[in-house]
Amino acid sequence: MKRVLILCCVLLSQYLYGQPIVNRGNIWNLETKNAVYQLRIDNGRIYPTYFGDIAAASTDHIQDRIRPNSPHTLEEIPVRGSFADKMPVVEAVFPDGVRDIELKIDKISVQTIDSKETLVIETSDRHYALAVTQYISVIPDCDMFEKWITATNTSKSRKFNIKIDNLLSGSLYMTPDRYFLTHHSGQWLREFGHRKTELTGGIKTLQSRDFMTFANTPWAMISTPNDTGVWYMQVQYSGNWRLDIEQTHNGSLQIVGGINFWDTSLDLNPGQSHTTPKMNFGYAPEGEQRATQSIHRYVRQHVMNPSTTNKIRPVLYNSWYATTFNIEENQQLEFAKIAKEIGIELFVIDDGWFKGRKNDRAGLGDWSVDTNKFPNGLSPMIGRINETGLDFGIWVEPEMINENSDLYRAHPDWILEFPNRTKDTWRHQLTLNFAREDVYQYIYKSMRELLANHNIKFIKWDRNRGLSQPGWSSVAIEKQREVRIRYIENLYRMIEELRAEFPDVIFENCSSGGGRPDLGMLARMEQTWTSDQTDPIDRLYIQYGYLSCFPANTMVCWTSGTDVHKAGITLEFAFDVAFQGVLGIGNNISRWSKEQREIAARKIAQYKEIRHLIQNGIVSRLQSPFEGNRVAIQYTSESGDESVVLCYNLAEVVDGATSDALQSQRLKLDALQPDTTYQVGDKSFTGKYLMEIGLPWTLKGSYKSCVINLKAVK
Ligand code: DGJ
Repeated sequence: MKRVLILCCVLLSQYLYGQPIVNRGNIWNLETKNAVYQLRIDNGRIYPTYFGDIAAASTDHIQDRIRPNSPHTLEEIPVRGSFADKMPVVEAVFPDGVRDIELKIDKISVQTIDSKETLVIETSDRHYALAVTQYISVIPDCDMFEKWITATNTSKSRKFNIKIDNLLSGSLYMTPDRYFLTHHSGQWLREFGHRKTELTGGIKTLQSRDFMTFANTPWAMISTPNDTGVWYMQVQYSGNWRLDIEQTHNGSLQIVGGINFWDTSLDLNPGQSHTTPKMNFGYAPEGEQRATQSIHRYVRQHVMNPSTTNKIRPVLYNSWYATTFNIEENQQLEFAKIAKEIGIELFVIDDGWFKGRKNDRAGLGDWSVDTNKFPNGLSPMIGRINETGLDFGIWVEPEMINENSDLYRAHPDWILEFPNRTKDTWRHQLTLNFAREDVYQYIYKSMRELLANHNIKFIKWDRNRGLSQPGWSSVAIEKQREVRIRYIENLYRMIEELRAEFPDVIFENCSSGGGRPDLGMLARMEQTWTSDQTDPIDRLYIQYGYLSCFPANTMVCWTSGTDVHKAGITLEFAFDVAFQGVLGIGNNISRWSKEQREIAARKIAQYKEIRHLIQNGIVSRLQSPFEGNRVAIQYTSESGDESVVLCYNLAEVVDGATSDALQSQRLKLDALQPDTTYQVGDKSFTGKYLMEIGLPWTLKGSYKSCVINLKAVK
């Protein structure tokens, strides 16, 4: 059945967009709806010649052949070897000490892999037993390509070990131009800052070296000043990753991405292979809006789990910001009662529920309930919460340990550490060495038992520190630098095993807020706690940035008490900001007045009316907080028959003032059907009018918001 389905997808895609991979003589064109990735074979070598607008597919694009200061042309699989005039994607050391690679092409074929047409370029070293295969899949309707590499030690001799110093997912080449880079720049509580900068000669590196992705996320966009076209790329990995963008003096770009091999190496024994994570990349001729929409479509259709990607996410309540660690049964039951009254569907208990967890100094690692706080265990409380009609969810931080825990007292050697080096704690915690099988089995069993013994429908998987002292002294020295890669392999394995056994449980990727937002996690968890920052104004920036490369139904947004009313911000405004993704409430609802509860009930009901559009619609970011003092985001059904626009004023725009004149007085909409008539309040307009002339911007005053509904008139 699955095979028939895959064949139908391939045939439908070919019918709609033509053959995605076309071979003409020595040229290979990989084509999506709007883009082409072109390769050329010359003298037994394969070169990237063009990546960009599909219009160029008809020509055999001749790249400017020589890179400055070098007699060579950049190859499709650049390796460490010969002149150091490129960024290599494969670097290896052979047993005799040779550190140069020379690849020859063995075979080029087109295969269907995971229902995608894929160019498979098989190469091997001219002398040594190393095979390197580059895969490039084409996803025409999403304007997306995927690259990854498998390196194999093909030796039959038991002694022939190859040390891999670097193995990235792939390299991209772009013809000379003046280029700008858009990327995320941030820190904890200020994640996803949307930054654009001109590239100049040299290498710009976006990366993670401690498993944390607050500073940059594994995503980038490239644009030129004279053109609306936008290139985009993402590394699908949750450990250390890197994206390097090198501009040469003549303006050409080379971009490489994948696992960050900084302080990492792999020992490939005879017969062993290593496959990189994917790097996806694409081109949108119409600018960032379309690029973002293509990325969202791709992530939802090709990265996320098909069984959860379109499922409507429930509205949740979590008392973390109201109570922190001070939780107990009766208090949680009181919250649950109010939560039910205002329309919440999922009740989540956060940090503090397990043994010894009075504060952040103790307890991590001991995943049994704290009977001081919950004398009857969790199940009676969960039962009473379920009786009110709410599902129950729980917080865990499986990868971490406190020194003050039974687990640490029993297994002090289970952490990442170097002998004779100071152990750095962060939030009083150390990192468990997830590369170890005994650690894996213990934590897996703890999580499995938690889920098997309680009616839990939601897991918030937190991780509150970056790596330090990444030592793994219990394995042979040549394996020790694999620790980060093996850690992530086991992390993925654990999530996959738990999900397979508990398919109805929703998983949320937390990590101190936006500390691990990437497609590796989104392939395994359906939503992300976007940031620990819940101030609605900061959230407007953070959420706008998040949506650059992650879909709205993965973006968890809460209202939370502390900042509302600051600077005149109302609860309604906080709700409208939290409407942008998956709605949650984090306030101390037991302190809410009757009026506040009524507002919350009304807003939650309103969200439920529009959440199918917000969570599953096409997202159009119409006005950016990074460019002015207004924000507008539109969400439209795939068919274009329904749409909702969320609008916000930041600081006051004074009528007639200079700042006012800088702003357009109209809001042009997107993604509608031009010839369809839409009802907007008591007026009606055609889609063409709304997209080309737009609606007047009616919000007046600071920190005001509104929700505009559009419906096609049948
Ligand atoms: C960090 C998370 O982002 C918060 O939401 C909360 O779960 C705390 N950790 C709990 O320790």
